[in-house]
Amino acid sequence: MKNVTWSSRFTKQIDAEVLEFSQSLSIDIVLYDVDIRVTIAHVEMLNKCGHINLSECKKILAGLRKVKKLADSGKLPWSVDYEDVHMNIENALVKNIGDLGKKIHLGRSRNDLVTTDLRLYLRDFIDIYLYKIRETKYVLATMAIEFSDSLFPGFTHLQIAQPVTFGHHLLAWNEMLSRDEQRLENTRKIINILPLGSAALSGTSLKIDRKMIAKKLGFDNVSKNSMDAVSDRDYVCDFAHNNAMIMMHLSRISEELVLWMNPQFGLVDMDEGFCTGSSIMPQKKNPDVAELIRGKTGSVYGSLMAILTLLKGLPLTYNRDMQEDKSLILESIDTTMACLSLLPRLIATLKLNKKKAEKMAGSSFSTATDLAEYLSKQGMPFRTSHHVVGKIVKFCEKESLELIDLSLKQLQKFSPLIGKDIFNVLGPEASVKARRGLGQTSPASVIKQADMILDNLKKYGFKK
Ligand code: ARG
Repeated sequence: MKNVTWSSRFTKQIDAEVLEFSQSLSIDIVLYDVDIRVTIAHVEMLNKCGHINLSECKKILAGLRKVKKLADSGKLPWSVDYEDVHMNIENALVKNIGDLGKKIHLGRSRNDLVTTDLRLYLRDFIDIYLYKIRETKYVLATMAIEFSDSLFPGFTHLQIAQPVTFGHHLLAWNEMLSRDEQRLENTRKIINILPLGSAALSGTSLKIDRKMIAKKLGFDNVSKNSMDAVSDRDYVCDFAHNNAMIMMHLSRISEELVLWMNPQFGLVDMDEGFCTGSSIMPQKKNPDVAELIRGKTGSVYGSLMAILTLLKGLPLTYNRDMQEDKSLILESIDTTMACLSLLPRLIATLKLNKKKAEKMAGSSFSTATDLAEYLSKQGMPFRTSHHVVGKIVKFCEKESLELIDLSLKQLQKFSPLIGKDIFNVLGPEASVKARRGLGQTSPASVIKQADMILDNLKKYGFKK
């Protein structure tokens, strides 16, 4: 009879279409490794608490290791008849060591097992993500030093606003990723709680040692309410939210790259290995990777909404609906990981068009604020300075001049407070150099900030 696990209560075989419809093996098969890790810890606990003897324990552990080997080498005969990865592993064990294998499910249920497995699986991914994020930060901070004094146009409303250094822009991206890093570290703490021992929903009548399992599997603590423990998928939402935020950041970065690559901007060039051509227009070099990252962000947002919606109407405790969380979070992880992996490699290939960037940085009256601040330093109230400089800009616009093109005489017509030292202020280079405070755009501030980032990354193995 199909599905021996719960078949004795049934007189009828499960409908074949229902079996196919309800199986989760095709998705949760990736959990086999964590499922075996969890089962090993559970079996050792059963032995310590006297529910199985040492020789039984050893036989089961040897059997589990064999099952893992078979699975690793692709030789385990998986079957959807056993519904999911958990039942497949248990059945494979029984096939290998006989009825003794049937003892492993004592004191637990698939309800606490599946969420324990998933927590472990996601925790491992958080660690991989953290590495990738830090690697990207390393690339950005290293490049920021290289480009600490390279002028670049700073935009607001996508209009040239003020000159910045390219290094400063790269460090802005770094800050986004630092927040992602923090969020991931917080999510790791939320994930790292052991639900096993909650059994189906109410716990078990057996004496068990949950703390021992937690310690063996590296969980920080055990869950405190068995009903909540089997029903809680907040950590899946948190992970999906992390993915959404990371993708939002990567997408914004990608959008800038697409713009900068546009010949109208012509600010950077990307390595050809990261671009594609057109099937009809021979001249094209398109920033497809950046476009695809931007495009894939939508489906990652979608996974977050889908998981939240999946949970919103569920009563305590376990409901089969929850099985659907895995395909959603796994797909969202796949996409985010692929983007997290590619983007730093692409960024590392960027070539800055220094001439163009410098020219744009000094265009569109980008140092008008410097001029206003100059006047206020001579005692003029800022609102008045703003007004005076507005008039100067209007004049320049009419005459097709930049601020730096004006003579002292012309400038003094607008305010006698302007002296010849104004020419140390109006250039884009002077503008960025003057912004020396913490987190500002001067080359010195950028180097200081990038150094701090690199110092911090040392403890994760990234050499300066
Ligand atoms: N395949 C199920 C899931 O992923 C495992 C838990 C099944 N529990 C149950 N009572 N049917 O959620």
